[in-house]
Amino acid sequence: MQTQAYKIADIRTRGINPNYWYVVARSTEVTDKPIGVTLWKQEIVLYRDATGTIQALEDVCPHRLVKLSEGQVVGGQLECAYHGWQFNEMGRCTAVPYLAENQKLPNCQIRRYPVRELDGFVWLFPGEEDADLVEPLGVPEWDHLNYIATVSVIDCPGHYSYLIENLMDMHHGHLHDNYQAWASASLLNIETQEARVDAHYEAQSYYRIDKIWSISQLFFPALRRLHPEPLDVSYVYPHWVSSLGQDFKIYCLFCPISETQTKAYLIHFTSLNAFWRLHKLPVVFRRFVKDSLFGSAQKLLDGLVEQDVAMIEQEQQAFLKNSRQRTYELNRTIAKVQRLIYEQAQRENSLD
Ligand code: FES
Ligand SMILES: [Fe+2]
Repeated sequence: MQTQAYKIADIRTRGINPNYWYVVARSTEVTDKPIGVTLWKQEIVLYRDATGTIQALEDVCPHRLVKLSEGQVVGGQLECAYHGWQFNEMGRCTAVPYLAENQKLPNCQIRRYPVRELDGFVWLFPGEEDADLVEPLGVPEWDHLNYIATVSVIDCPGHYSYLIENLMDMHHGHLHDNYQAWASASLLNIETQEARVDAHYEAQSYYRIDKIWSISQLFFPALRRLHPEPLDVSYVYPHWVSSLGQDFKIYCLFCPISETQTKAYLIHFTSLNAFWRLHKLPVVFRRFVKDSLFGSAQKLLDGLVEQDVAMIEQEQQAFLKNSRQRTYELNRTIAKVQRLIYEQAQRENSLD
């Protein structure tokens, strides 16, 4: 048995390993009107350039240190709201409206972040290492015609460790009552690797999505029948993925903001894989089915998030009141998750 090299209190203020791809926005949020986002205390401006490509720069105008996200995009250049200096996607100054003939453009350089638009989300790499050597997790079901998606945004007033522990701990179904897709989870085994923890549970699922009418189980509780299904949850640093049998897949994409604030995107997919007849229909029709059912689990997902966030907020407040207060844990998964957080944040160049 490994000894614990950290105190729980250390976990609650731990920084992030920045050499991974984090999710900072949904694709649709980024237009040619700049927006500001925060990833672990770093303020970043996102915008689309003249070709529609998303760019990410530090959200600070080098002239007087105001926010560039309050400016606008003009001819593909990011223009500061204050004096109208313009910057290209490399973060170099390209124009100053009042530059005299005998003056040169200031030789300033704004920090530029590797950023990718993938599967409906904006992925950003805040680290110093080579971003091309690490692949973003991605959400392959996002564009797949057999999956119906629902997205819920989590604004969580707590450290990211509380949120990932909540997601990895399937024994808190008690909290969710009517909203939960499963019951009676029992932990079978846990596997750990350098950057992931996989916990395998056996649970009782309420849903069996095998006939087209069975979709209505999502809306009418009386149609649900409990039956055993594997429930797998994985911390794929820094994100979370879960599947319940063949029918459901959920992702939680993380954007840790500070020691006491975390943003995340919860994406729920209902699989239509079992409907082979549907797959023979023209792609246009299948696309129509996918798009018209988008968001069909919204009430369920938002309800779950609200209940979880309320608990996490209390955990965070209790920690702030007394960081040495002892807590008790029976789920072995949590210790593995905490060790991973500790070790990842321990690495060279991690952000505190
Ligand atoms: S502060 Fe940005 S242009 Fe002056
Ligand atoms: Fe939950």
